[in-house]
Amino acid sequence: MNVLLVGSGGREHALAWRLARSPSVDALHAAPGNPGIARLGTCHPVRAEDAEGLLTLARGLDADLVVVGPEAPLVAGVGDTLRRAGLAVFGPSAAAARIEGSKSFAKEVMEAAGVPTAETMAVARAPCVVKADGLTAGKGVHVCRTQDELDAALRAVSARGGGVVIEELLQGKELSLFALVDGKDVLALPEARDYSRVGDGDTGPNTGGMGCYSPVDDAPDPAELVDELIKPVVDELGRRGTPFLGCLYAGLMLTEDGPRVLEFNCRFGDPETQSLLPRLDGDLAAALAAAAAGELTEEVAVADAAAVTVVLAAGGYPEQRDAGSPIAGVDDAEADGALVFHAGTALRDGRLVTNGGRILAVTARGATVAQARQQTYAAVGKISFPGMRYRSDIGAPVHA
Ligand code: AMP
Ligand code: GLY
Repeated sequence: MNVLLVGSGGREHALAWRLARSPSVDALHAAPGNPGIARLGTCHPVRAEDAEGLLTLARGLDADLVVVGPEAPLVAGVGDTLRRAGLAVFGPSAAAARIEGSKSFAKEVMEAAGVPTAETMAVARAPCVVKADGLTAGKGVHVCRTQDELDAALRAVSARGGGVVIEELLQGKELSLFALVDGKDVLALPEARDYSRVGDGDTGPNTGGMGCYSPVDDAPDPAELVDELIKPVVDELGRRGTPFLGCLYAGLMLTEDGPRVLEFNCRFGDPETQSLLPRLDGDLAAALAAAAAGELTEEVAVADAAAVTVVLAAGGYPEQRDAGSPIAGVDDAEADGALVFHAGTALRDGRLVTNGGRILAVTARGATVAQARQQTYAAVGKISFPGMRYRSDIGAPVHA
């Protein structure tokens, strides 16, 4: 197969790494890709949101499968443009991607499907959670325990414009749940635990994700959770004539009263994919192609290993990005067996430099989460760039 991968983040680097190792893949292409992906395939300077440009590229490459990584092009309808032209696409239509693109739509679908979620509040009163009603790269959610926090959140959300959803503040441990979906059938993937706050001990603002680990020992069986929480939403979207095809990702809170869905995402998680794919055996490209064809038959074998991923972010993340600072030590980290996924990097005069908020995601595997964690942090210790910040408690026992 000729595969075209759309996107340029750490998630896409992990997908590229796994696809490049798939027996069914003859050639891997990416648009626009990044310096890490460029070592695994051919990168083309076409933006992920440029539907017509991607169509021309995919046709020129005679692509057998297009895999769309990020949410923004999916919500904008890139999948529809490609599929209408007869291409096999792994990623939902714009109509189905609204499950991520609109928090209020997601609430309505969950209610119709009977999937438990946080209660919506008619009046904003602390404690509560304030969510901007559009795509915000994980930064539009404000957890408000006090009236002051609530006032600040309402100001921040109204400054963005657009709608707002206010819901009850749920307590518990979080879990990221993933399924491959072919429009009707679902296949559960391994679960992961993501750390969305910027600081150690879950402090500071929400981010796109600062690290994760998989498997999660204190979580229920992911196949059962997928049947209970993801399958009903797939059925509901099918009933509405907008079937979901791609990776459907539910962000859960495991409360005392059972699991509650905090959000649905219409794509793989970032950084969860960087922990998840190193745990999969078998031919990922074949599984994604089967889903794209509406014939999800492939089993995905899960290796008996754990993985821990730590995100190395710019000093000012999530408020600020960084560009042009030199990055050192990636080769050393890789030489020790770690996987170093590029999330926001660029090459300047042949040197690797920062170019984003989340810069790198470092993953190592081990027999247990504790062993993988030790390996990951050993690799992190070899990498440096000015201002580099990361959490030191990813996969630590207090969160396990
Ligand atoms: P979301 O983008 O909706 O998943 O929200 C991002 C993060 O905000 C989640 O991973 C949680 O840490 C937190 N969050 C969202 N909704 C709630 C809720 N109802 N109760 C508690 N925390 C929440
Ligand atoms: N790690 C959270 C997300 O991918 O949305």
